Amino acid sequence: MSYYEIQGGRPLSGSLAIHGAKNSVLPILAACLLAPGQSVIHNCPDLSDVSATLDILRLLGCRADRDGSTVTVDATALCRCNIPEHLMREMRSSVIFLGALLSRMGETELSYPGGCELGPRPIDLHLSALRLLGAEIWEEQGALCCRRGRNLRGRELCLSIPSVGATENAMLAACGCPGLTTVVGAAQEPEIVDLQNFLRAMGAKIDGAGTPTLAIEGGAPLHPAEYWVMGDRVAAATYLCGAAAAGGEVSITGVAPETLTAVLSCLEEAGCTLRTGPDQIVLASSAPLQGIPPVRTAPYPGFPTDAQAILMAALAGGEGATLFVENIFDSRYRHVDELRRMGADIQVAGRAAMVSGVGRLHGAAVRSTDLRGGAALVVAALGAEGATQVSELRHIRRGYQDLDRNFRALGADIREVP
Ligand code: EPZ
Repeated sequence: MSYYEIQGGRPLSGSLAIHGAKNSVLPILAACLLAPGQSVIHNCPDLSDVSATLDILRLLGCRADRDGSTVTVDATALCRCNIPEHLMREMRSSVIFLGALLSRMGETELSYPGGCELGPRPIDLHLSALRLLGAEIWEEQGALCCRRGRNLRGRELCLSIPSVGATENAMLAACGCPGLTTVVGAAQEPEIVDLQNFLRAMGAKIDGAGTPTLAIEGGAPLHPAEYWVMGDRVAAATYLCGAAAAGGEVSITGVAPETLTAVLSCLEEAGCTLRTGPDQIVLASSAPLQGIPPVRTAPYPGFPTDAQAILMAALAGGEGATLFVENIFDSRYRHVDELRRMGADIQVAGRAAMVSGVGRLHGAAVRSTDLRGGAALVVAALGAEGATQVSELRHIRRGYQDLDRNFRALGADIREVP
């Protein structure tokens, strides 16, 4: 098993272009199923979650080819609607195929999704939304079977939690439902806006993404489209927190600063200097990071849960105390034990975690527990004294393209040891 070998304490400098957003491209690739013909997706990151999604598309009968960061998907020959267990287990976001297959094929069968272990990952909101649209859904030998009911029609859906995945599934299913569907209580993440823009490019009549209420006029046939995926705001937050922890000055391009405002304001409060342009963020950090007011994760535009571990890792090696409250997932502190091995002082009580900066972490042998927890260990290692080994890199590869190479390009002493 390979691992990252990181010598901490070297300030970072330079500029980095951020790859396309994992959490945007996955639903967009599923949306390619909605129409026969060839869609072209640019700025598609090379991640294991993306490869898994392309494998599912191929298994369903589509052609899916990658040429650098451009992926073409031809869904003309879509002929299957069941996704085998081994592919579903690879990642939770494969549940997004539910709405897309229901729209295009009128039926689907998939096993319960796998993915990061972030506590229970129910899909009750996905299923109730699709049932309200008229889908018949039942369980058969551990697989989820779903088919278009007799009266598949648009209607008002109300989400009790602004679930990103449930919002996306409802959008994709509604495209195949004649009539108007409104989604009240929808997630407002930028990735939802990106999906809306792609669906519009396919000819869908859809409005409201980025607000709590979406409107989809479904039932009309759609056509393939060409699209450029937005930059990955969580990857950007990762490189910025790495620079904040290690010190120095870095410029991140290819991401809209307004998509990570909550993270940028925390870094500013911690003592970093930030300058932003339309498509660029420059961060400078020269003194130890300071404690900041409580960080409470929340649905967008609140502080993103995906950046919780990453910011915690940077602050753990600073000075002063910061309270974190993880309100989105039940157990998203699996990285804490690993940070403690590096000398971090973090007290967890339920959803709360009190981080007391220890001035400087020290290197240790640590292992990734999940995607963002693994990235957090790299961030911590960059600012730590001495050498750190980060193992279980498969978690990191799910959501980061060339994390080590990119940090090395910014001056970090990090390499992958086979
Ligand atoms: C998406 O996951 C992202 N994944 C996650 O990013 C992100 O952390 C999350 O949204 C929140 O922003 C992708 O987009 C592929 P949710 P998703 O449905 O859709 C509960 C990463 O690191 N819930 O918004 O699965 C759920 O348990 C990943 O890139 C239900 O109760 O998240 C959670 O507590 C990790 N019932 C909360 O809602 C449901 O039917 C938010 O989950 C669905 C969700």
